[in-house]
Amino acid sequence: MLVSATEMLKKAKAGHYAVGQFNINNLEWTKSILLTAEELKSPVILGVSEGAGKYMTGFKTVAAMVKAMDEELNITVPVALHLDHGSYEGCYKCIKAGFTSIMFDGSHYPIEENIAKTQELVNVAHALGLSIEAEVGSIGGEEDGVIGRGECADPDECKAVADLGVDMLAAGIGNIHGKYPENWEGLSFETLDAIQQKTGIMPLVLHGGTGIPEDMIKKAIDLGVSKINVNTECQLSFAAATREYVEAGKDLEGKGFDPRKLLAPGADAIKATVKEKMELFGSVGKAE
Ligand code: 13P
Repeated sequence: MLVSATEMLKKAKAGHYAVGQFNINNLEWTKSILLTAEELKSPVILGVSEGAGKYMTGFKTVAAMVKAMDEELNITVPVALHLDHGSYEGCYKCIKAGFTSIMFDGSHYPIEENIAKTQELVNVAHALGLSIEAEVGSIGGEEDGVIGRGECADPDECKAVADLGVDMLAAGIGNIHGKYPENWEGLSFETLDAIQQKTGIMPLVLHGGTGIPEDMIKKAIDLGVSKINVNTECQLSFAAATREYVEAGKDLEGKGFDPRKLLAPGADAIKATVKEKMELFGSVGKAE
C-alpha cells in the first residue's frame, strides 16, 4: 500500500522503534525489499537518490514500477516512495512523477535559504498529501554524488526547521554515508539529545545506517530517531553473494547465466540484510 511516511513515522516515534529506509537501484532491489517488508509485516520506506533515479531512466519510471509492483505483489504493509537527498528541482520532479514522500536537502545553503526553500516545499508537498524530510548540518561522506562535510547540527537551527512543519528531520550527529573509517569517533549522542529536547515529537532521521554498531543504533532510537537510512550495506551484500556465485563457476553450469539465476543470490542477500535491519530497528510486526 503506497502511502506518505507521515503516519508510519508518527507511530514509530510514539512506539520507540524506527522504520528503515532502504535505497533502491533496480527491479531486484525493489522486489526484495517489498517482499521482506510484507513477510515481516513491517512498514518500509523505499529511498531513491537522484543518481539512482537517473540510472532507472527517470523518476516517472521509478514511480510507475513501484506502484505496479506494490499492486502485483499484493503488498499490504505501508510503503512510502521517498526521494533521498533531493535538490530543489528534484523535489518538484518527484512530486510530479507520483512519489509519496520527498527529502529536500538544503543543508549546503545558508540556513536562511534552507528555511525559505524548505518552507515552500512543505506547503507544496502537504497540499498534495506527500510527506517531507529536511536536513540540518550535513551528513559526512558521499551519497551518489552528494558530498557532505559531516558537521553536527545546531539544535536551535533544527528547531527552526522542525517548526516549518516538516514530517521528519535529518540532523548531522557525526554520521557518514558509506563505510565508517577506522578512526570514526562514533555518533554524538550529546548533539542528538539536545536536538530531541528542542524538537520534541518530531521523528528524527539517522542517515548513514551502514556499519553503525547495534548498541549505537539502539541508543539513537531511544533518543528519538524514528527513521534509519540504509544503502551501502545492501549493495555490499548483493555484491558479495554475486561474487560467490560467479567465483564458484555457477554461471557456467547449465543455464546458470540466465539473469534470473545469476541475480538470485544477490536478491536473497538483500532480503537477509533488510530482515536483519528491520529486526534491529524494531519495526517487525508494526504493520499488523
Ligand atoms: P549508507 O549508504 O551509509 O547506508 O547511507 C544511506 C543513506 O543515508 C541514504 O540517505
